[in-house]
Amino acid sequence: MLTKLLKNAKRTIVYTGAGMSTESGLPDFRSAKKGLWEVEDPSQVASTDALNRDVERFFQFYRKRVLGVKDCQPHEGYRILADWEKQGVIRGIITQNVDGFHSVAGSQNIMELHGTLQQIHCQSCGQTYSNDRYEEEVFYCECGGKLRPSVVLFGEGLPEEPFMKAIHESEQADLFIVLGSSLTVSPANQFPILAKDSGAKLVIVNLEPTQFDHYADLVINDRKIGEVLAEVDRNIVNT
Ligand code: APR
Repeated sequence: MLTKLLKNAKRTIVYTGAGMSTESGLPDFRSAKKGLWEVEDPSQVASTDALNRDVERFFQFYRKRVLGVKDCQPHEGYRILADWEKQGVIRGIITQNVDGFHSVAGSQNIMELHGTLQQIHCQSCGQTYSNDRYEEEVFYCECGGKLRPSVVLFGEGLPEEPFMKAIHESEQADLFIVLGSSLTVSPANQFPILAKDSGAKLVIVNLEPTQFDHYADLVINDRKIGEVLAEVDRNIVNT
């Protein structure tokens, strides 16, 4: 069914959440028992308030995530998405993820709604640095300001450029495929609805149910993303 939808569509957008990276070894946020927010309170470690009030805890939390991203590699499903973009099977990817794995795997048209852990910048002067600084436990800028990852913290707005582009792509899509998101965080979770309301078919591939499953034309929740992408990739080549 997903292969058929993909082959019949002219403008497919893929939308990924943290479930896209669990098969690369990175934890997601809300999977029962293993999600990051099962052990940490995001408001205490991933917010502007935490950066101002409890900066040592903030630094350690994000240093752990930077090291995690450096230790892991994008799995085969990422390469398949990059190939599909090159072959014109999909137009691009809207992602909530900050691991940068889509670009590492070779995708080009990526809209990073929540920023990236691949880059660090100074909270005071804006100077950008490689995330190696966090690996070396360098947490302050030459200007004395705090260095923080270029991710969207709770309490911050989303970056304008990827957000506006994601609106345009969602409105133009005729197929919108969600891979690995609980669709609980707004405004990022509005894009599948915007696509559906603009006439696209909506597919949700997610191991747990989401609040938008009733909107979807197809829900796949009994198989992992890596397996689904590999199977569709085999079918799409052979038909
Ligand atoms: N295959 C399919 N689904 C999976 C897999 C997998 N291999 N691994 C995990 N999942 C599903 C989980 O069941 C879960 O419902 O992926 C979903 C991930 O949901 P979240 O952990 O809530 O991640 P996400 O939706 O990306 O969170 C959105 O919340 O904290 C913020 O900024 C953070 O970008 C993040 C946002």
